[in-house]
Amino acid sequence: MVFGQADRTGKALKVAVLGCGSVGSQVVRLLQEQSADLAARVGAPVELVGVAVRRLDAPREVALPEELLTTDAHGLVAREDVDLVVEVIGGIEPARSLILAALENGASVVTANKALLAEDGPTLFEAAAKAGRDLYYEAAVAGAIPILRPLRESLAGDRVTRVLGIVNGTTNFILDKMDTSGAGFEDALQEAQELGYAEADPTADVEGFDAAAKAAILASLAFHSRVTASDVHREGISEVRSADVASARDMGAVVKLLAICELVPVENGDDAVSVRVHPAMIPRSHPLASVREAYNAVFVESEAAGQLMFYGPGAGGAPTASAVLGDLVTVARNLLAGTRGAGESAYADRAVLPMGEARTRYHVAIDVEDRAGVLAAVATTFADHGVSIKTVHQEGRDLDAQLVVVSHEATDAQLSATVEALRGMDIVRDVTSVMRVEGEAE
Ligand SMILES: NC(=O)c1ccc[n+]([C@@H]2O[C@H](COP(=O)([O-])OP(=O)(O)OC[C@H]3O[C@@H](n4cnc5c(N)ncnc54)[C@H](OP(=O)(O)O)[C@@H]3O)[C@@H](O)[C@H]2O)c1
Repeated sequence: MVFGQADRTGKALKVAVLGCGSVGSQVVRLLQEQSADLAARVGAPVELVGVAVRRLDAPREVALPEELLTTDAHGLVAREDVDLVVEVIGGIEPARSLILAALENGASVVTANKALLAEDGPTLFEAAAKAGRDLYYEAAVAGAIPILRPLRESLAGDRVTRVLGIVNGTTNFILDKMDTSGAGFEDALQEAQELGYAEADPTADVEGFDAAAKAAILASLAFHSRVTASDVHREGISEVRSADVASARDMGAVVKLLAICELVPVENGDDAVSVRVHPAMIPRSHPLASVREAYNAVFVESEAAGQLMFYGPGAGGAPTASAVLGDLVTVARNLLAGTRGAGESAYADRAVLPMGEARTRYHVAIDVEDRAGVLAAVATTFADHGVSIKTVHQEGRDLDAQLVVVSHEATDAQLSATVEALRGMDIVRDVTSVMRVEGEAE
């Protein structure tokens, strides 16, 4: 199937698409519908020569000539005439072997596969460098939102110090529901599933695996160092309770699942990298607090540019395909020019800091006996662990009282040891909510 015949300015570039599901079908549709513009932008027609799928007879969201469909993905990438391969199958295998085979065979590759990049990105980048070909993956983080290219290119002359993102739409939808309707986690998850925002098996989203993969990719690009999924401290949202969300609301904050990547100065004068995914309270005045429903946003702080925010639809077939096609045009132009774009930049080789050494702030709600000296005893426990208190609110409740303490910054190890010690105190009936806090209230 040759697109853009009318604008033919040279030899057609041959494209193989691996996968024709939510994203792949929209990639194929855009290749068909935008063919003339794509040919003009690339400088040559783009010819779809094959689409690999698992089942030939599955219903498709796009009309395709039967002869283009194949279940032999390895055969398709081994074809001598394929210039570009789009991998939108997902998962580790066979995606990894297919991408490696495509590069070895001289094709450039565009992929949306965050799981694979976060697990084994360096193997793929090395294969691309060895082959002298491109490996582009804008769609792997935050769907349609351009964020990898700004980090790789627009901010290449600046020093990025922090990337803070809401990079998983499913969990944002659930937390937003819990905040606006007072629903519990299970009810909000069920609604997300009914509306198609959550998978039948929601583990990858609600336990933070998806966000952790994206955090690894963001941190690698932002800090020019290799960060893989196993380096990322990960906590999901399945333990977030209505009480946490209500407690956040009481202090003018909202609970979000955040991917946090930051440079942290260490003793030898270098910077280490801290990468973590966990629920956190952020003030409602913070730009990320207004990211509602299944939207994504990434907040970047850099020395010269200051604060930047990237916002938009972070998933969905068509938005993700938009990012794939953007990469496809760049990679195709590079092929025609006989060049390749920037490859992996990992020269800084920074260490990844263990979570215990990351500096965070905690919000802790404690049910205590309502009697003299309790507040002082609690404050002493914080002080004994080297944690200073920023604010404390006390509310009487019959014979008990609730203390809500927000700490100043300390290491995560100091803060979690404080909470453990609080749980062991006679005067403490229960620690009802523990959550990290990000961002200063304005
Ligand atoms: N969906 C999103 O919103 C989104 C957003 C950002 C990134 N992504 C990433 O995009 C990729 C694709 O996601 P998706 O949602 O489009 O997945 P999907 O709807 O499950 O589609 C996967 C496609 O791959 C095909 N496939 C599976 N195993 C195969 C094999 N061994 N050989 C050949 N084809 C095979 C399937 O074929 P059949 O159709 O025959 O089963 C299907 O067409 C993933 O890496 C995902 O993380 C997705």
